[in-house]
Amino acid sequence: MTKRWRDIGSLYQIYPRSFQDTTGDGVGDLNGITGRLDYLSCLGIEAVWISPFFTSPMTDFGYDVANYRDVDPTFGTLDDFRRLLSEAHARGIKVMIDLVPCHTSDQHPWFVEARSSRDNPKREYYVWKDPQEDGSEPNNWRSQSGGRAWMLDETTGQYYLHSFLYTQPDLNWDNPAVRREMTDIVRFWFDMGVDGMRVDAIWGISKDPNFGDDTRNPNPPHDTESYGAFIHDHCKYGPHFTQYLRELASVCDEYSDRHLVFEFYPDAQLGDIYEQYREVIHAHPRGSAFFMEHRHMSWHAEHTRSAILDYLHRSVGEAIPFFCLGNHDQPRVVSRLDYERARALNFLNLLMPGISVVYYGDEIGMENGVLAATQIRDNFSPANSPVDSRDLERTPMQWNSSSFAGFSTAEPWLPVHENRSTVNVASETGDSRSMLAMHQNLLKLRQSMPLL
Ligand code: NOJ
Repeated sequence: MTKRWRDIGSLYQIYPRSFQDTTGDGVGDLNGITGRLDYLSCLGIEAVWISPFFTSPMTDFGYDVANYRDVDPTFGTLDDFRRLLSEAHARGIKVMIDLVPCHTSDQHPWFVEARSSRDNPKREYYVWKDPQEDGSEPNNWRSQSGGRAWMLDETTGQYYLHSFLYTQPDLNWDNPAVRREMTDIVRFWFDMGVDGMRVDAIWGISKDPNFGDDTRNPNPPHDTESYGAFIHDHCKYGPHFTQYLRELASVCDEYSDRHLVFEFYPDAQLGDIYEQYREVIHAHPRGSAFFMEHRHMSWHAEHTRSAILDYLHRSVGEAIPFFCLGNHDQPRVVSRLDYERARALNFLNLLMPGISVVYYGDEIGMENGVLAATQIRDNFSPANSPVDSRDLERTPMQWNSSSFAGFSTAEPWLPVHENRSTVNVASETGDSRSMLAMHQNLLKLRQSMPLL
């Protein structure tokens, strides 16, 4: 029997392009995930979160959605997804999918219509502004993927807002029709049996209604025009932030045991980060926020202790603590620290109350990939820099020691890391000190100890 979210101890994040390819095209797919459910079951995993697999031109590998209700052919079909869902449920594993509510792809039919003319009924689904008198951008907001956050649409003579790539226009959440569309999309997947959603990039769901300039950072980084050169006091956390989160999460009330977990990185420049967690967590009883503070915390017991306690202290009511060490946007934990420290931090993470999140491959100690500039595929990478690219943490899962690590029979979309840490090697040596054995032991312990 599948447990309730409250009693679940672990969530395993799968980046579907990199988990298991079954079609021989070098890219992972849904059937690949289904085929590996027994592995996850043996590991002691009780829920999976699958990063986007929806129809998409893949300029941000699925975080640019062109159809929220279908599967991109790269990953398979809706029927493949239904099979995955029922096979997971048969093993008592819950399935969480990714909801990308704040922007679509520029290929989404809404945007294609919206940009066709100023009086198109879909125009107000997006954020449009006139140029300033000199023709420049409406304000100084920067995109999180680099450059300005505004793109001039030549046909209609207005700028549209894109908080990420220009191929990801921001949706206008102040428009009730957009909010209705999004809650209907959540219902579509919940009706199918999906158990929850990880909700992408929620900080931009509400913005300053006056579109004021962001304040310049008094201690700017080297690049004084970059995103970090500004304090984001106007482009995010607008006055309707909690209201919109609450509206979205209230769909859970129509179903039994559904949960949303918000992607959320509190912003130290905007005040008390644990107070910001509290605000998100309190948005709705069936909404939670990932604890991501480990990614930049110093190696210091007291800092770690107080950050964890602060977060737990704010996670009151029905909120579930979700403890993470990394994800598809953060360098691998073994590479940020070193193997021993990463092992210790994983140990701690696996014993936290609430839900411990495991990013695929972290259970075998996968390291950041080593990529040449020509191998970089992520469009967010500054000047194709192999040092800062998110591709480093997205390399193929290392199942065994064959040439493509058992991930694919063909050259994978990103190169396999050359380190020899694989699921097979770890299981065959049976070394109880290995990262995999530690995960297996503690995840099993969690399954049998509901207090964790
Ligand atoms: C956060 C996601 O985790 C990241 O991968 C994506 O690029 C941005 N949001 C935009 O959707």
